[in-house]
Amino acid sequence: MKNDTRENFGSKLGAVLAAAGSAVGLGNIWRFPIETGQNGGAAFIIVYIACVLLLGIPIMMSEFFIGRHTHTNTAGAYRKLAPGTQWKWVGRLGVLSGFVILSYYSVVAGWTAEYTVLAVGNCFEGKGPDTFPAIFGEFVSNPWKPLVWMFAFMIVTHVIVVRGVKGGIEKFSKVMMPALFVIMLVLTVCSVMLPGASEGLEFLLKPDFGKITGSTVLSAMGQAFFSLSLGLGCLCTYGSYFRSDTNIGKTALNVALIDTFVAVMSGFIIFPAVFNAGYAISSNDIGPSLLFITMPNVFQQAFGSMPVLSYLVSVLFYFLLVVAALTSTISMHEVVTAYVSEEFGMNRRRAAAIVTVACSVVGVFCSLSFGPLDGARLFGMSLFDLFDYVASNIFLPVGGMFVSIFTGWYLDKRLMRDEITNHGTLRVPYLRLVVFILRYFAPIAIGVILFNQLGLFRLF
Ligand code: PFF
Repeated sequence: MKNDTRENFGSKLGAVLAAAGSAVGLGNIWRFPIETGQNGGAAFIIVYIACVLLLGIPIMMSEFFIGRHTHTNTAGAYRKLAPGTQWKWVGRLGVLSGFVILSYYSVVAGWTAEYTVLAVGNCFEGKGPDTFPAIFGEFVSNPWKPLVWMFAFMIVTHVIVVRGVKGGIEKFSKVMMPALFVIMLVLTVCSVMLPGASEGLEFLLKPDFGKITGSTVLSAMGQAFFSLSLGLGCLCTYGSYFRSDTNIGKTALNVALIDTFVAVMSGFIIFPAVFNAGYAISSNDIGPSLLFITMPNVFQQAFGSMPVLSYLVSVLFYFLLVVAALTSTISMHEVVTAYVSEEFGMNRRRAAAIVTVACSVVGVFCSLSFGPLDGARLFGMSLFDLFDYVASNIFLPVGGMFVSIFTGWYLDKRLMRDEITNHGTLRVPYLRLVVFILRYFAPIAIGVILFNQLGLFRLF
């Protein structure tokens, strides 16, 4: 079943950092604080962590071993393991989700690049709270500027993907992930030392369980899948580049820990500063514009009396976002590129070019939904919001549910045991728990949360 001409990650650390690079992204630094802010703070974080532990890690292990066992792209993997069945559609749904997410994700990624340039040019200095909505509004509604940045982001992603798994993705992640940690550490220290930080910390650490509703649980689950890059075969594709001695359980645990740590750290960067600047936690301040209206103003107010610090914090923050976004866009691009290249027998370069062009075209519409297409609504949402809602709250959980049913019920248990224990050479005491979760807990929990929220039946 193995295809020897296929590349692998060069080292175990490289594999962990590449997968963590995929997981750590705008989901952690942009989406997680927004969801936390809108869903009541600490209580949301607890539900989120439960989703990561009970659903995220077992499903991640499944994606890894499906990929490593089949050594092929995610759609090909299901075809190989379940020939002649409809399971191939799970892989295809994953490729579609990767395509959809990449298209709107690269729009926001482009904004982070524009804001890095603004921060480097010291354009925020001395500006008051009223100016930032206008700066952002003018930028996103400009018909060209956001598109140029989106294309630029797509091209950089393209170049890294074309360089291949070891020379492009792994090499980039090995340099950028440690850089990302250092930047986060510096920003966290700056933020928690601000006067008034304790209010922000309390919001993150003191749970109010009364705030947990059905939609909080769905949001936490959607966020966990999005943040861990689960349910669309991204980690299945990366798993297909793992070497045979990679410890799948340990890698999944490390990736989940790194990802959750970064998400919580983003909270520690953002909320103390937001509270310091006197913002109320409401959906206006903690919406998609959080990073582009609220944060630049927060940096001015919080560090404004120390212009050098304010400058450095702004530059580092937006650069951090660019790096985090890039390690994620390359992973989504890789899912679709590997699929096009392997399923249609094309070389990587050509496949990557097709993916870049197709995603850019769809991205144009997502980007314009903030400007010239502002009024256009589908199911009451802008194209951008619709893509984000459908992909993370529906496609990814549905993908995750099918992955667990596939590994828990369809596949021979011996195959899972062999892959997770590296053919009996590793001791994996929690294997039975993982099997139980995949067979019973994950499909039922995801199904109930999903159907409840979609209104197909109401339990809570
Ligand atoms: N996990 C990424 C983030 O948190 O930003 C987003 C993402 C990357 C989702 C790759 C899905 C994916 F396949």
